[in-house]
Amino acid sequence: SESPDARPIKQRLLVVANRLPVSAVRRGEDSWSLDISAGGLVSALLGVKEFEARWIGWAGVNVPDQSGQRSLTKALAEKRCIPVFLDEEIVHQYYNGYCNNILWPLFHYLGLPQEDRLATTRSFQSQFAAYKKANQMFADVVNEHYLEGDIVWCHDYHLMFLPECLKKHNSSMKVGWFLHTPFPSSEIHRTLPSRSELLKAVLAADLVGFHTYDYARHFVSACTRILGLEGTPEGVEDQGRLTRVAAFPIGIDSDRFIRALEVPKVQDDIKELKERFAGRKVMLGVDRLDMIKGIPQKILAFEKFLEENPYWQDKVVLLQIAVPTRTDVPEYQKLTSQVHEIVGRINGRFGTWSMVPIHHLDRSLEFHALCALYAVTDVALVTSLRDGMNLVSYEFVACQGAKKGVLILSEFAGAAQSLGAGAILVNPWNITEVAASIGQALNMSTEDREKRHHHNFHHVTSHTAQQWAETFVSELNDTVIEAQLRIKK
Ligand code: G6P
Repeated sequence: SESPDARPIKQRLLVVANRLPVSAVRRGEDSWSLDISAGGLVSALLGVKEFEARWIGWAGVNVPDQSGQRSLTKALAEKRCIPVFLDEEIVHQYYNGYCNNILWPLFHYLGLPQEDRLATTRSFQSQFAAYKKANQMFADVVNEHYLEGDIVWCHDYHLMFLPECLKKHNSSMKVGWFLHTPFPSSEIHRTLPSRSELLKAVLAADLVGFHTYDYARHFVSACTRILGLEGTPEGVEDQGRLTRVAAFPIGIDSDRFIRALEVPKVQDDIKELKERFAGRKVMLGVDRLDMIKGIPQKILAFEKFLEENPYWQDKVVLLQIAVPTRTDVPEYQKLTSQVHEIVGRINGRFGTWSMVPIHHLDRSLEFHALCALYAVTDVALVTSLRDGMNLVSYEFVACQGAKKGVLILSEFAGAAQSLGAGAILVNPWNITEVAASIGQALNMSTEDREKRHHHNFHHVTSHTAQQWAETFVSELNDTVIEAQLRIKK
């Protein structure tokens, strides 16, 4: 019998994502500095108490030599991370090409620019081949580290082939796959030359998860319409085998943000920001500099607001943090110049010697600086053209316990389904509507602001990242048990 203090051995969770939660920079032959990213997924999984999580993914760096690969593997092991080494050519074809130039815009309903359309069509096959090859490389690393009983949780559009690669190797592996982006309408998905192969590969998983019911429904209808399979309330059925499909809306580690506001450095920053912008309302945008975020549209709406409301011209400021991302992809380079041009024009138009209407930064902010900024913001502007969820809206709400500012939120962000009742929802393509919503937010009564904030704050603090991860993993365990029972019957 068990001794009284014997603890059950924790189930191991292998989290497989394109990018590891730490990014590596080479300092010398065998020396590495590791930057821990504090993204939602990382804090969500650190908080999952019942499991012992290990990460498998790309460290964001090219390491061509064996000795470098060995030393990086060793350094990462201390962080419970296992690297997948991708060479430059694979990164170019798989990550920049198929993932970020094809799947990413397609899943966000953004077509390719006219001049790229033909070129992309031509390079499609080689990029798709690289995508499959890269997925197999991830699978090889998983197989090498897998122990019986482990749970394997695959993430995002980079790894749609992974469930199939894993199950082919070991059909009894427990495999889940979660998509962090929207899954588009089947009418969009069916334009992809590799539409069927991708769907079939994902269906090899035991459990397939999305942020919203709409995305799950789109996926199921793509499977029924393109593959001719049967969609049931539980998922997709193929010859008696069920792939469970469900919605698992992600959240944030809200306590981490709330606690940060008490840190003396953050309080100093808050005080300084308040002084700097005294007499003006602060509007804030925080986005990766990505087409899907609708940054040009947001800035044009702000311009329209200033144009139509001269009273506000020297009483409001827009702070836009634009975090550089995927800078090797030409589309992202074009976007950067476009945003700079618009910001420059508007500042030239409305600025004075003592006042600039838009402060635009091309960089990320350190966690505590970001919390201070959220805390002094009167109105947050999230105008994504499409967004899987958008956690900036959650982070803003978590930091607004004192101020109870207003959230203007795109109806095309997954978050609109959870924070819709507390936010002002807008169609980001309609600049006139967004400009009007800025006026509405700046003039909103305290009572209305408090009521809306209360709704959002309750949601953000009661639907955390940790609960998201725990729900997904326990559902995956249950799904596998149910499938075994079905087979026995
Ligand atoms: C989105 C994706 C993530 C990705 C992140 C940053 O949130 O869903 O999978 O890691 O963007 O993009 P990057 O290309 O830098 O990993």
